Amino acid sequence: MAEIVYGSEIAANIKADLKQRLDHLKAEGKRLPHLVVILVGNNPASMSYVRGKEKACEAIGMENELVMLEENTSQKELLALIQQYNHDPMVDGILVQLPLPKHIDENEVLYAISPSKDVDGFHPYNIGRMMMGQPCYLPCTPKGIMAVLARIGEVDLSGKRAVVIGRSNIVGKPIAQLLLQANATVTITHSKTKEIQAITKEADILIVAIGKPRYVGADWIKPGAIVIDVGVNRDENNKLCGDVDFEAVKEIASYLTPVPKGIGPMTIAMLLSNTYDAYIEHTR
Ligand code: GUN
Repeated sequence: MAEIVYGSEIAANIKADLKQRLDHLKAEGKRLPHLVVILVGNNPASMSYVRGKEKACEAIGMENELVMLEENTSQKELLALIQQYNHDPMVDGILVQLPLPKHIDENEVLYAISPSKDVDGFHPYNIGRMMMGQPCYLPCTPKGIMAVLARIGEVDLSGKRAVVIGRSNIVGKPIAQLLLQANATVTITHSKTKEIQAITKEADILIVAIGKPRYVGADWIKPGAIVIDVGVNRDENNKLCGDVDFEAVKEIASYLTPVPKGIGPMTIAMLLSNTYDAYIEHTR
């Protein structure tokens, strides 16, 4: 029977620590860290994510601005707004919620955000530095997963077999890189991988980020594996669920993260943490 690892509890500790730091800054009359979140259009999942980020900022007393733009906002207008925030000395972090409407080139937008305010860690400058193992803003979900693995005390990743399912720029590719830097032997699998279960069954650590409700069952898992579920899906009853069949896999894994209360809250905690780090850099 797996131990269920509640990212929500680890995230609460991180946020409590940040709140204390912000309380100190406030008591000293200092300017506070300031995050700008930009949402274009009204994708319901994105609306819910940005509201979550806004609430988290408010809960720790971080300055935050939620900019909601019409679906038909032009790329030029969005880039101009980003430039304005790039040059605003009161703004520490800029996050443009993805996905963007089809008429906007996502890469152009990610390039436009100043790397020093790129608290999502999506700018090629930060991605490149991550690949080189240099200090940078790490993408929030992979950073949150590494923090969860660090909290599972007995785990030394060195020499372990880690398998990642999914190859997105947001999760799959960067988490594979971070696991590699921790000296795991890493395999990335994806929709075109043949005999995927033969590979996942070798995994000491399995990271699942595919976006298919309860797709990964017990027969994908090596007994005693650590299983991290990054999926956020709605099942046929509109109930929130992960990519992993939680009830089946908890019987066979050693540690398992739930959905909700697993990796999602860690992503938000890491966003706050990156914004605080950016503030420290900007006020040096
Ligand atoms: N869309 C889904 N996840 C993320 C994220 O971590 N950051 C941004 N900006 N958009 C997302």
